[in-house]
Amino acid sequence: MEDGPLVIAIDGPAGAGKSTIARRVAEDLGWAYLDTGAMYRAVTLVALELEVPLEDAEALAALAADLPLHLAPDGTVTVREQDVTALIRTAEITAAVSVVASVQAVREVMVRHQRRFAAQNGRIVAEGRDMGTEVFPDAHLKVYLDADPGERARRRLAQGSEQEGGEDLEAMRSKIEARDRLDSTREASPLRPADDAWRLDTTRMTPDEVFEAVRSRVRSAIRS
Ligand code: DC
Repeated sequence: MEDGPLVIAIDGPAGAGKSTIARRVAEDLGWAYLDTGAMYRAVTLVALELEVPLEDAEALAALAADLPLHLAPDGTVTVREQDVTALIRTAEITAAVSVVASVQAVREVMVRHQRRFAAQNGRIVAEGRDMGTEVFPDAHLKVYLDADPGERARRRLAQGSEQEGGEDLEAMRSKIEARDRLDSTREASPLRPADDAWRLDTTRMTPDEVFEAVRSRVRSAIRS
């Protein structure tokens, strides 16, 4: 991939800290940021709005294929020119998105968008579940962030996003574990670390510590 795009791939389960880190690394380098979870969320948002049944894989695929989805290099997501970046973070979308993301034909459309984004922007930090394994197998560096489910649930609650009123740690932990199961056991591009990924367990690390560790790894990778 001599003349191809330069990609830093960041994968891992929900709540491992991918978004915060990927965004900060992209800013630090001045590279584009690709949030691929946001793309599956945007398809889910429109599917729910249009009342497309989530068990109808063909209808979901057709919807994804026709969706005027635009990703800006700063992570902003627009659908039909409407900024949906905040709208796609609700608990309703989070509960439904794993099903949409498990449809192979939906993934094929998203992967095409993702590779086009890389080609157009040249240097990107891409975050998701299959960046290192499927979408960018030649990524310059593959990072796999993980953390214990209990810690990931705690972070999600502390973020204040994706929660319904009064949700407790145990409930959030079971939701996270259920989502992990769906994402890692599905047939289409399941969540798993690439063989050549650099793995970091962030359970006992602060966001700043994770950022510093990833930044130094990224900097030495792009110097080589
Ligand atoms: O990272 P996130 O919570 O925004 O991801 C939303 C969902 O999309 C999650 O269930 C996993 C799925 N996803 C995926 O299957 N492949 C990706 N590259 C990114 C996200």
